[in-house]
Amino acid sequence: MVHPTLVEKLREQVGHELSASHQYMAVATYFANLSLDGWAQLFFEQSDEERGHARKIIDFLHDAGHTARYDQISAASVTYDSALEVLETCLSWEKLVTKQFQDMAKLCMNEGDFTTFQFIQWFISEQVEEERKLQDLIALVSSGINLFHAQALLPKEG
Ligand code: FEO
Repeated sequence: MVHPTLVEKLREQVGHELSASHQYMAVATYFANLSLDGWAQLFFEQSDEERGHARKIIDFLHDAGHTARYDQISAASVTYDSALEVLETCLSWEKLVTKQFQDMAKLCMNEGDFTTFQFIQWFISEQVEEERKLQDLIALVSSGINLFHAQALLPKEG
């Protein structure tokens, strides 16, 4: 039902989502170390969301009769030069994830795997939101606002 190439891509994507969770945990820690607890909370929540994304894929693989795989996760930095650098780095991660899902969508079409194609539509829409959220945060920080004051303007969910 799920093409073997897509099974492999989904297994890899579980690793990408868990890596993203790890990276966002480190970003949250960067902000927590600066006593910016509102920013830290936002990224701890984002880390949880990424685990949720991994879980969605794990469940889909399981339902389709396949097992997930857990590859090694790389170290994540808690050191950055500025909040703007952090946010731009996060946006670059999200753009990479968007490309990973778009590449999967192309593969689904080429292989006639409509089951997986339908499954990944949710992620493709989610990526639009995730990139937008980071662009808004970059605009907020680029305005020159004090990062402590900016916490009152952060989105409620990560
Ligand atoms: Fe699961 Fe932020 O992409």
